[in-house]
This record gives sequence, C-alpha cells and structure tokens, in this order.
Amino acid sequence: MSAHVQTHRITVPQIRAHKNGKPVVVLTCYHAHTARLLDEHVDIMLVGDSLGMVIHGLESTLGVTLEMMILHGRAVMRGAQKALVVVDMPFGSYEESPEVAFRNAARVIQETGATAVKLEGGTRVAATIAYLVQRGIPVMGHIGLTPQGVNVAGGFRTVGRAEAEWPAIEADAAAVAEAGAFAVVLEGMAEPLAARITAQIPIPTIGIGASPACDGQVLVLEDMLGLNPNPPKFVRQYAHLAPAIESAVRDYAQDVRERRFPGAENVYPMKKVP
Ligand code: KIV
Repeated sequence: MSAHVQTHRITVPQIRAHKNGKPVVVLTCYHAHTARLLDEHVDIMLVGDSLGMVIHGLESTLGVTLEMMILHGRAVMRGAQKALVVVDMPFGSYEESPEVAFRNAARVIQETGATAVKLEGGTRVAATIAYLVQRGIPVMGHIGLTPQGVNVAGGFRTVGRAEAEWPAIEADAAAVAEAGAFAVVLEGMAEPLAARITAQIPIPTIGIGASPACDGQVLVLEDMLGLNPNPPKFVRQYAHLAPAIESAVRDYAQDVRERRFPGAENVYPMKKVP
C-alpha cells in the first residue's frame, strides 16, 4: 500500500458554490514558504500584483511584469497543495486585445500551474474575460478601486460613497459575471453598494475594504501579519511580526558581536572533558 497522501485542490466550481453559503477565505501569497503555512486555512491564495509594492518596494503595481508574476506564481504553487491559486495579470499584459490577454494568461497558467488569473476592470474588460473563459482559463474579476488605474484616477479612493456612482459600478459587476468570471474582487467600496452588488450577481464577491456584506474577504498577508508600517485602516492585524522580527535580529546581532554563536555547537560538537 502506498504511503502517498493524495490531496485535492479546491476547484473553480467549489468556489462558485460558496455563493450564499460559507464565506470564501482569501489571502495574498507570494512565496513557497508562506504558501505552506496558509494552505490548510484558506480557500484561495492570490498571487497579487501588490507583490510589486510589498516585496519589491515599488511605488505602485504598474512596474510589475509578467515575468515577476510567473516567478512568484511558481513559488506559491510549490507550497500550495490544496488551495486554489489565482495569479494577477499585471498592467500591460491584457488590455491591448483579448488575443494578447489569452497569450499572456496561457503563459501564466502553463508556466506556474495555477488554476486561474485575475484582471482589473468591469465592462471595459468583459469581452476579454469571456474570451479567456471560453478558451479554458478561469478568471476572477476585480472592480471598484482598481490599483492599476491609479494614474487615471489620480490616487486611491473608496468608490460608491455617492449614489450617483452606483449604476456604473453595478454595470461593471454584471458585465464581469455575465462574461463568465467565477468570482469578483470588490476593492475599496462603500458597504451599501457592496451589499447591492453581492445580492445582484450570481458569483461570489470577495471584498477588500468593502465590508462584511461580501461573500468573502481577501487581505494582503503582510498587512494582517503586522509587517506593513502603514496598513490600510480596514485591516485587523492578527499578529505583530515587525517588532518580533526586529527584536530577534537585535538579539542575533548582539550574540554575534559578543562572539556567541549559539547553535554552532550542534555542527561541531565539543568533546565533553570528564
Ligand atoms: O494585488 C493584490 O494583492 C490584489 C488584492 C489586493 C485584491 O489585487
């Protein structure tokens, strides 16, 4: 009998089935090591293009390339056995045409082994979403505050505070769902609008700064672990790793400066003198 334990990865239909059911648990993930830690606890790991800011220190997500997304997507897939992995399509990789989007999304799927891609936009990208889904690439949508549009919008701001904005954003949600997306991120959205959209569309809405009215939530892992010195105000910090890391590094530096290398004795054990 084989001792091999077969794990089954969460599927796209299983995520869709969360609609009106159990909330979908999503976290961003960019490396193999954290993927192993998250795997038992989340439904979806999102290799978000936020990695440009969180990991690479960029000012926005606009400098993130397809190669960066593929590199991190592969790392996450090495650590994730059970969670469904979604990789963000970076700025410039899908806007030109559905054909270009397909070629780049197919690279992401083939070179990472991830199940799905995510792309930003509503009615503007609906034809592209339909094109990808019809050709075998599951798509997660992303509407509301869309960070890749930062230069056009002139900054990041919560959408839907004014009712006048609602029809256009509701049309985005409907277009993404009709195009065949299996779920949609609602980012930076006022609660009444997030609640209306969640009630209107047949696919799970995954909120980030969009209230508990959504069918699930995604947070940036480093924000909820306390590694971001300026986390968004909607994030609960479930751990405070920044001071814990600083304190460990301070202790380590002091040990080395005082020529204490604890642990080194495990490599070259000293003979005990009787
Ligand atoms: O890039 C990202 O991490 C995202 C989430 C914030 C939804 O798109």
